[in-house]
Amino acid sequence: MKKLILAITALAAVSTLQAQKWEDLAKTPPMGWSSWNKFATDINENLIKEIADEMVASGLKDAGYVYLNLDDGWHGPRDEEGRMTVDSVKFPSGFNALSDYIHSKGLKFGVYSDAGCATCAGKPGSGSQGHEYQDARSYAQWGVDYLKYDWCWAENLNPVGAYTLMRDALRDAGRPILFSMCEWGRSEPWKWAKDIGHSWRISGDIHNGFDDYINHGAWETYGAMQIVDMNAPLRAYAGPGHWNDPDMLEVGNGMTENKDRATFTMWCMMASPLILGNDIRNMSKETKAILTNRDVIAIDQDSLGIQGLRVLRDRGVEYWVKPLVDGDWALCILNRDTEPRECLLDWPVLQVYDTVADRHLNFKVQTYDMRNLWTGKQDGTTEKNRTVKVPAQDVALWRLTPVKK
Ligand code: GLA
Repeated sequence: MKKLILAITALAAVSTLQAQKWEDLAKTPPMGWSSWNKFATDINENLIKEIADEMVASGLKDAGYVYLNLDDGWHGPRDEEGRMTVDSVKFPSGFNALSDYIHSKGLKFGVYSDAGCATCAGKPGSGSQGHEYQDARSYAQWGVDYLKYDWCWAENLNPVGAYTLMRDALRDAGRPILFSMCEWGRSEPWKWAKDIGHSWRISGDIHNGFDDYINHGAWETYGAMQIVDMNAPLRAYAGPGHWNDPDMLEVGNGMTENKDRATFTMWCMMASPLILGNDIRNMSKETKAILTNRDVIAIDQDSLGIQGLRVLRDRGVEYWVKPLVDGDWALCILNRDTEPRECLLDWPVLQVYDTVADRHLNFKVQTYDMRNLWTGKQDGTTEKNRTVKVPAQDVALWRLTPVKK
């Protein structure tokens, strides 16, 4: 009897440790790069190795971008035992060699699958339905660190069941693999997926646009600001280990520098996963400066893990705040207008009690130093109201730090 109790206690300890191992994978929002936005299914091992090299050479890795994720388009056929293989034309050296290469650069390896019978790009049999445990074992054996799990061909599946099944399969395979859920917000995963995925998409796909949406007939895609609007009410559901995912970034894919800066800033204000989607081998210095701004990334990666709050909207101009560690706050003015705007910083109006953080931002009782995170300069304090000019479709962003009395 004593032995049985000891064994049960030991098992419970192991399972707590295992749960901890998964919980710790995304204490702050995941950061990396994914092939989809720029390359769609046109991927191969040379491209991925070049991206790995460039993630290191460009300083992206040092700035925190560590996951190198292959999205749709890598699957081969299943073998006679039902095991997933990789496309041998695109990846002739196989995934173990690619994974070793990625790991040798100090990066982590991500792959993509789907809860239905095929992935969204539609290669028959490429989805994990009915192969969940088998696929999870393959991922572990390939040294995979991140799985994005999509929702095509899944109309008859129960999302809670399908995502729980894959989560359990991943845990059973034994390797800590970050689980990024992609069911487009259809069944409100923020309400049920906290203990299932490390992140969940909250919308349909993003496109390379700022403040628009495109109707493709059977589906729609969204500009960055439309996704911001969908994400804004969901802030209470996110936190360390479980993030709202507004999709991969389109920064560097052809929008203006202003729009790129605004998009990146808003992703950071929303404590979003920062998964890049541009060709980092040819990025402009402006794109690189946006993506590697450490002060802005620190807003995203703040250890409190609280998603930002929109406090005020004034005809296309929005004021957002985000509580940060040690009593700091981020403050962002987002100008969605196509004209530059003179924006008033009216401190009494911007006062707020944040129910998620249980914290007051009260400029009457506390003055803050303002550091402008895009110019890198001190911008005085919050003592007096003032006006700030924000260019069209751009932002101004500050870190507010309490002035010690
Ligand atoms: C879906 C996802 C996208 C991408 C494609 C791949 O549309 O939402 O992010 O993974 O599938 O086919």
